[in-house]
Amino acid sequence: MQPLSKVLPPSAATTPEGHLSIGGCDVVALAEEYGTPLVIYDGGLLRDTMRRYVQAFRAHDPHTEVIYASKAFWAQALLRMAHEEGLRMDVASGGELFMALHAGFPADKIVMHGNAKDAKEIGEALDALVGLVVVDSLDEIALLDQLAGERGRTQDVLVRVTPGVKPSTHKYISTGQLDSKFGFSLEGGLAADAVAACRAAANINLMGLHCHIGSQIFELGAYPAAAHLLAQFVKEQGGDDLAIMDMGGGLGIAYTRDDDPPSVEEFADVVMDAVHAEWDAAGLPRPRVMVEPGRSVVGRAGLTVYRVTGTKDIPGVRRYAAVDGGMSDLMRPMLYGATYEALLPERPDAEASQSLRLVGKHCESGDVLIQEADLPEVGRGDLVCLPATGAYGVAMASNYNGVTRPAVVFVDQGKATLAVRRETYADLVARDL
Ligand SMILES: Cc1ncc(COP(=O)(O)O)c(C=O)c1O
Repeated sequence: MQPLSKVLPPSAATTPEGHLSIGGCDVVALAEEYGTPLVIYDGGLLRDTMRRYVQAFRAHDPHTEVIYASKAFWAQALLRMAHEEGLRMDVASGGELFMALHAGFPADKIVMHGNAKDAKEIGEALDALVGLVVVDSLDEIALLDQLAGERGRTQDVLVRVTPGVKPSTHKYISTGQLDSKFGFSLEGGLAADAVAACRAAANINLMGLHCHIGSQIFELGAYPAAAHLLAQFVKEQGGDDLAIMDMGGGLGIAYTRDDDPPSVEEFADVVMDAVHAEWDAAGLPRPRVMVEPGRSVVGRAGLTVYRVTGTKDIPGVRRYAAVDGGMSDLMRPMLYGATYEALLPERPDAEASQSLRLVGKHCESGDVLIQEADLPEVGRGDLVCLPATGAYGVAMASNYNGVTRPAVVFVDQGKATLAVRRETYADLVARDL
């Protein structure tokens, strides 16, 4: 017997039959009822994490705003929950804007991102009356000014700045980081040009700056480093129109039991203390701070359950186990070599007895979910579960190989609610003429 992985949601437990349960629901029963692959979210943990975020940041300043980065996972049920919990919403395309509005999100709480917004998307944001547009290029500033003018409106904006701080999971380095497709670098004067362009634009109302230094960050020292450079920049620019400082997202989560990320509260303390200290030191009035987490709101709350379709032993090489999903529902291992752990929901506390390669069903050799998965004996028909798949999992899902995208179910206090139905074969041809 081994303890349940700490990567699972805290509600993880074992049922009297020895099955894994999440939010009081038996994962094996859920897989039987809804089919596999199945994405299960612990609704209680989602809500709790949103509340912790708001409380932790507002403890430093009640005007602080937590903006959920919807790209991490955008089911309507989740977007509605974020609104109920008082978060704002980051959308990065016309489609994400549509989904937020469809979920009843008030437009003035929406922050429109995107490094390549086209005229249609900018028009949609203007027509919806979104609260803030984060501008990412000089072309966009000119287009936004023109389209806002045509509508007789002024749009509030933040300028996306790349401060030249490059975080990694265990360290950070200050670099030129001029070479990014996102935003305006401080180095080389691009950020100053963007501020000047916004100030000169008749239909743009500059409200502040935005900066997102990276993702899956464990080394929080990168935030004070960024805050220092940003405060210097605000001082250089003068004026009182840089009153908002959106510090982006980036807090990491544990994907395996070796990962030990900072808590939401530690993140809030570091970001807020750094911004306040740097603005105070620069003799500037403290800004209204915003943060924009995605992964750390939804990542740990989600897990994906697959069924093993078969195993294969290559003598002297390795054992493979294939499952009924893969890169179409969990792209991150292929995209960035991301690591996950696996466990068997029917025997979650069974000791691992082998290391095998857990692969998906797609026609790509790279469709590997876990390169070396430590598991007990497993065979055709068994369920396998990957914890911590809640962020950038189904949000990046595709129909490659005509595989239908999974159902998503929310569980809380013993009750399961289908949030997104499984795609059907009819869905696969619904757009074809
Ligand atoms: C502009 C912006 N804000 C917020 C986020 C969310 O980041 P994370 O999921 O790491 O918290 C991202 C992620 O890519 C982003 O690009």
